[in-house]
Amino acid sequence: MFITRHAEALAVLADTRYVPPPVRQDGREGTLAWLRAHVSRFSTGDTHAARRRLVEERLAGLDPAALRDAARTATLEARGDWRGVPTRVLGAALGVADPDALPAPVAAAAAGYLSGEESPRADAAVAALLDRADLPAVTLLLQAHSAVETLIEHALPHLAQPGDVEALLRETLRHDPPLKATRRLDTRTGDEVTLDLTAANRDPDVFPDPGRFDPARGQAPHLTFGAGVRPCPAPAHALALAAGVLEGLRDGGRR
Ligand code: HEM
Repeated sequence: MFITRHAEALAVLADTRYVPPPVRQDGREGTLAWLRAHVSRFSTGDTHAARRRLVEERLAGLDPAALRDAARTATLEARGDWRGVPTRVLGAALGVADPDALPAPVAAAAAGYLSGEESPRADAAVAALLDRADLPAVTLLLQAHSAVETLIEHALPHLAQPGDVEALLRETLRHDPPLKATRRLDTRTGDEVTLDLTAANRDPDVFPDPGRFDPARGQAPHLTFGAGVRPCPAPAHALALAAGVLEGLRDGGRR
């Protein structure tokens, strides 16, 4: 089933009978499959709640304003070469040693993290990351990497517009979400449900003139950070990292 309406997507996201499609549980320790079997993102029920608590505790120790400042400074120092900046900044804030060396293994592991596509390269990257950081920190780095970089990419064409970067990012999240869909399994029927976030974010019942990119829209109830039972626990951190990079690009000239 494919869901495109905002209200229906919200209802599924709030219903515990819909769970993330299960992932294989028999991966060798330290591999991508093993990691996916041990993170909150793909688990359910009490296991999910316990694992989610661990990442929330780590997030509570991170100050979004400090992430934003660090991302701005790093982007300026890199003379606008911003790729990898969010991951380096997040890694440093999480206390991972040598954060400048994180983007390559994080990108390699993140490539298969959501899709589940396994490869020797992804397995090696996961092993290297787990040598340097604990599971909650690795989870946060992998969840953040592609989503934040894609958000920045999608916002860049609008950077010349006047207005603050928060408004620009909010409307980019609604209009052009970095994650276009998320999936659930209906535990009653075994059917898989795809939630089309781009379509739900342009539902005319909720967003007037939904196809228009309008940073003046204000706090629109987009579904890009999920909702209901297991929304993204880090929207403030995501926005801070992206805003810091955009400010660095605006203040220092861009690439
Ligand atoms: C623009 C950037 C981001 C977007 C659009 C985004 C979006 C999402 C969404 C939609 C989910 C829920 C998936 C689902 O229910 O199917 C999610 C989960 C999650 N996100 Fe984010 N995210 C972003 C950035 C981040 C960052 C920066 C972090 C960490 C610093 C993070 C950490 C997590 C974690 C740990 C989960 C799993 C939560 C759970 O298992 O309950 N995300 N994210």
